[in-house]
Amino acid sequence: MPDPLEDHANLGAALRLAAREAETYLAGIDDDRVRPRVGRVESTSSLPEDGVGSLAALAELVAAADDESTRSAGPRFFHFVIGGGTPAAVGADWLTAALDQNAGMTISSPLASRLEHISLGWLKELFHVPAAWSGVLTTGATMANFVGLAAARRWWGLQHGVDVEAVGMSGLPPMAILSSGYVHVSALKAVAMLGLGRENVRTFSRDSAGRVDLDAMRDALRECGSEPVVVIVNAGDVNTGDFDPLGEMVALAREQKAWVHVDGAFGLFAAVSPKTRALVDGLELADSVISDGHKWLNVPYDLGFAFVRDPVVHAGAFSASAAYLSAKATSQPEFMNLSPEMSRRARSLAVWATLRAYGRDGYRSMVERHLALAQRVAAQVDGAPDLERLADVRLNVICFRYRPEGVAESELNELNRRVGELVLEDGRVYFGTTVYGGKVAFRPAIVNWRTREEDVDLIVSTVRELGARAIAQAQPAR
Ligand SMILES: Cc1ncc(COP(=O)(O)O)c(C=O)c1O
Repeated sequence: MPDPLEDHANLGAALRLAAREAETYLAGIDDDRVRPRVGRVESTSSLPEDGVGSLAALAELVAAADDESTRSAGPRFFHFVIGGGTPAAVGADWLTAALDQNAGMTISSPLASRLEHISLGWLKELFHVPAAWSGVLTTGATMANFVGLAAARRWWGLQHGVDVEAVGMSGLPPMAILSSGYVHVSALKAVAMLGLGRENVRTFSRDSAGRVDLDAMRDALRECGSEPVVVIVNAGDVNTGDFDPLGEMVALAREQKAWVHVDGAFGLFAAVSPKTRALVDGLELADSVISDGHKWLNVPYDLGFAFVRDPVVHAGAFSASAAYLSAKATSQPEFMNLSPEMSRRARSLAVWATLRAYGRDGYRSMVERHLALAQRVAAQVDGAPDLERLADVRLNVICFRYRPEGVAESELNELNRRVGELVLEDGRVYFGTTVYGGKVAFRPAIVNWRTREEDVDLIVSTVRELGARAIAQAQPAR
């Protein structure tokens, strides 16, 4: 099969094969083991001289996918913070590939541009972000942090009378960036990518868990005098789901010349339910706010979004033009001028479809189910004599460790690490360990639309069972 043109007639069969296999895969995902089976794709094979054609290639892919895919789209994957794909989002994502629109400019795809404007408007309504803010879809929260912080960098340059996009940062002082110990590594990565220097991020924590020390932050802000500074507020700590006090941090920042960036990769979803909305009170006073779509929105990888209070600053950070790109001016900015990418996947189709399918009520009901499931797990942890909860459950993450009687504190980290390995090897449920306040701990996060009580009930029972096994394995043989 030397030329794709000769494969033309197989397109329908290729799509049917993909649909059939995907349906089978997803039909089993509620009950499948989460852990992938051993891989079988030859990783060392060299580029084939002669192709095998679409149908044979897809058949090989299906076999590999069955073996090597982590069932992270399923209901018992609690590692990191990974959502699945709602039926509407997965269907729309497939159409995105079939339609293959370039979402950079209206002229390249009126459909993608229109749906991105509508989707961002709906997301702003869902999260109570002011309608006048600009927004853009990104590949995830890391790039959404990049967008928000790029806008902050532009604002900061302008405070010094410098257009950093035009002339760079030479001669400017380091940009002061303040946050709590909850700051996520992706925000640090964005800072690094922007040339601002990770080491210029100063964190203010009052304890080893990373909770913000507001007094120390206030002092540091005051020391900055009239210098413009950036404050990163963390709405949803990845270890515990805890929140920086958004309203108080915004108020502190407003005493100075500061840009407030809010990383709400999953925590922004607190705004969806009246039960948790207070956790993000003050959001509308920030300057940039970001979140993820492939987490709690349950849109397949990859998707994130950023909102910026000042549309002009936002556009100033990303605008680019060339003669061949000129088009009739529209009242709306082109998305390639609001994001790092020029050519862009039409991610809006999946966002539009899932919000159209389930609406505000559907998302509120899913989020509230997850909040209740998290409390259910917390109660089970509290009721188990060999488990210790390490943090309040304010949202959807339960931070706890295995702590059986008779094991010394000095041995608990190693024991929990071992239990974490056993959980991943076992694969009935899936979550790894973290280190919280110096303690190795589990931090299952509940965000998948499919997850039910019977799924989360496996968290505690599996840890206790495998914990007992780890202890038995550690006993010297008699
Ligand atoms: C608070 C926070 N910010 C940012 C990210 C990065 O998200 P992504 O991996 O989608 O880029 C995460 C991921 O877990 C997160 O929890």
